[in-house]
Amino acid sequence: MDKIIILDFGSQTTQLIARRIRELNTFCEILPYNKFPEGDKDIIGVVLSGSPLSVYSENAFLPDLSKILGKYPVLGICYGAQLISHTQGGCVKSAGMREYGRASLSILEGSCQLLKGLEQNSQVWMSHGDTITAIPNGYRVVGSTDTVKYAAFESIDLPVWGVQFHPEVEHSLQGRKLIENFVVGICGSKKEWTSDSFIDKTVAELKQQLGDDKVVLGLSGGVDSSVAAALLHKAIGDNLTSIFVNHGLLRKGEFEEVMDAYNAIGLNVIGVNASERFMNDLKGVSDPEKKRKIIGRDFIKVFDSEASALKDIKWLAQGTIYPDRIESLNITGKVIKSHHNVGGLPEKMGLQLCEPLKWLFKDEVRYVGERLGLPKKLINRHPFPGPGLAVRIIGDITPEKVSILQEVDNIFIGGLREWGLYDKVWQAGAILLKDRSVGVMGDERTFENAVALRAVTSIDAMTADWAELPYDFLKFVSNEIINKVKGVNRVCYDISSKPPATIEWE
Ligand code: XMP
Repeated sequence: MDKIIILDFGSQTTQLIARRIRELNTFCEILPYNKFPEGDKDIIGVVLSGSPLSVYSENAFLPDLSKILGKYPVLGICYGAQLISHTQGGCVKSAGMREYGRASLSILEGSCQLLKGLEQNSQVWMSHGDTITAIPNGYRVVGSTDTVKYAAFESIDLPVWGVQFHPEVEHSLQGRKLIENFVVGICGSKKEWTSDSFIDKTVAELKQQLGDDKVVLGLSGGVDSSVAAALLHKAIGDNLTSIFVNHGLLRKGEFEEVMDAYNAIGLNVIGVNASERFMNDLKGVSDPEKKRKIIGRDFIKVFDSEASALKDIKWLAQGTIYPDRIESLNITGKVIKSHHNVGGLPEKMGLQLCEPLKWLFKDEVRYVGERLGLPKKLINRHPFPGPGLAVRIIGDITPEKVSILQEVDNIFIGGLREWGLYDKVWQAGAILLKDRSVGVMGDERTFENAVALRAVTSIDAMTADWAELPYDFLKFVSNEIINKVKGVNRVCYDISSKPPATIEWE
C-alpha cells in the first residue's frame, strides 16, 4: 500500500502531521530522521518534520538528503524547510527573536502545486527561531508573510517544497488543503487506507499468520483491547480466548457491563473476579509506585494462571496502538518512549506476540471498532488507568474507600453523559483525598472525606488542559455527591493542566 514517510526531527507536532495524512486515507509512518527505509517500494513521498533544534546547533540533526531529494516528492516543514535550504546552498540565520503565532500567507503569482487552490492571505501558524534568508539556486519563493520572505518555496526542477509555517496545526486554516495538495495532488496517493481496507487486510494477514493456532488476549474494558479482540475474533473465531480480570478497582458496575457487551458480540471471554486477592495484597500500601507494582504483579499472576489452564495457546495478543510504539526523539536525538502505557506481559509465558492494532491511531481504532459492530458506549470510553481506582485513592486502599469512590465517580461520569459533556472531554474521574474535612450536615458537625473531580481535554494524554465544565453542571454534581454519597462532605474541581500537573493524581 502507498505510504508517506515522515522523518522526525523531534518536533512536538510530528504526530499531528501523521494524523493529517491518515485523515486523507493515506498510510504514513513516522521514523527517526536518520532511519529512512531505503528501497521500500511503497513510499510515494517524504515529509521532513520540524525540530526544537537549529541547523546550527552543536548537535543538529543533519542527515544526508541525497538519497531522498529528487528521488521522491519531499515536503520540508519548518526545520525540514530550513534543512533543505541549509544543505542545498541556501542560507538560514537566527531570526533574533522566536516568531510564534499567527501570520498571513501571501501566495506569489505563478503556478505552484503545493499552494494550488489556497486562498490568498489566509492564516498560517509560525513557530521558529531561525529563518531562511536565501533559498538555494534552482529554487523559487512561492509564498511570503510580512516578516518571512521565504515562507514557502519550491525547487524548479525537483519535486521538493519547503514551508516555514506548520500546516499540520489547526491554526493554519488551510493547512489540511496544503497537505492534501502534497499527499494526493503531488505524491498521487490512491487513498486506500480506510477502516474497511484495514479490516480486510488485517483479517487476511491474521488468518495467514495464525493459521489454526490458539491465541489468548487480556481484555481491560478499554477501547484498544476490545477492538483488538473483535478483530481477532473476526479472523480466527473461537481460537481466540479473552481473559478479563476484575481487580476490584474498576468503576461501579463496569465488570458486569463490559462482560455483557463482550458476550453480546460473541467473544469467547473468561471473566475472573480476583478482587479479594488484589485487596489483600494492597492492604496498608500507600506508595503509588508500590500499588502499581503489586497490581501489575497480581494481574500477571492471575492472567498467567488462567492462560496456562487453556490448552495449546501459542500467541499472546495485545491492543498496542501506534502512538505507544512511535520512537519519539528528544533534543539529544536519543529515542524516548512516548508513553508509559505499553504494559507488556512477561516473555516467560513463552508465547509469540500478536499486535493487530499496532499501526493505528486512537481515532482509527475507534472507526475500526465501529465497523466491527462494537457498541458506541464501549468505543467512546474515556481512557482508564490499568491500576484503576487504586491510583485515584490517595493513601492506602480499603474496600470502603473503593466503594465511596465508585459512587462518586458514578455520579460524576453519569452526570457527564446526561449533560452531553462526556464526549467533549478526553478523560474524567474522581479522586478520593487523604485528608478529611469539617462540614455541617443537618445540625451536626461532620468530619468526612473530600473528593476532587478531574476532567481534561487532550489529544493524546501527553499534554492536557482542565476541562471548562459549566458551573451549573459542577453545582449539580457537587450537590448530588454530597447528598447521596455517605462519607463525603466536600467536592473540589481540579483546575491544573498537564504539564506541570499530570492527569492522574498519583
Ligand atoms: P498521567 O497521569 O501520566 O496519565 O498524565 C497519562 C495517561 O495515562 C494513564 N495512566 C495510566 N495508565 N497504567 C495505565 O495503564 C498506569 O499506571 C497509568 N497511570 C496513568 C492516565 O489515566 C492518562 O490517560
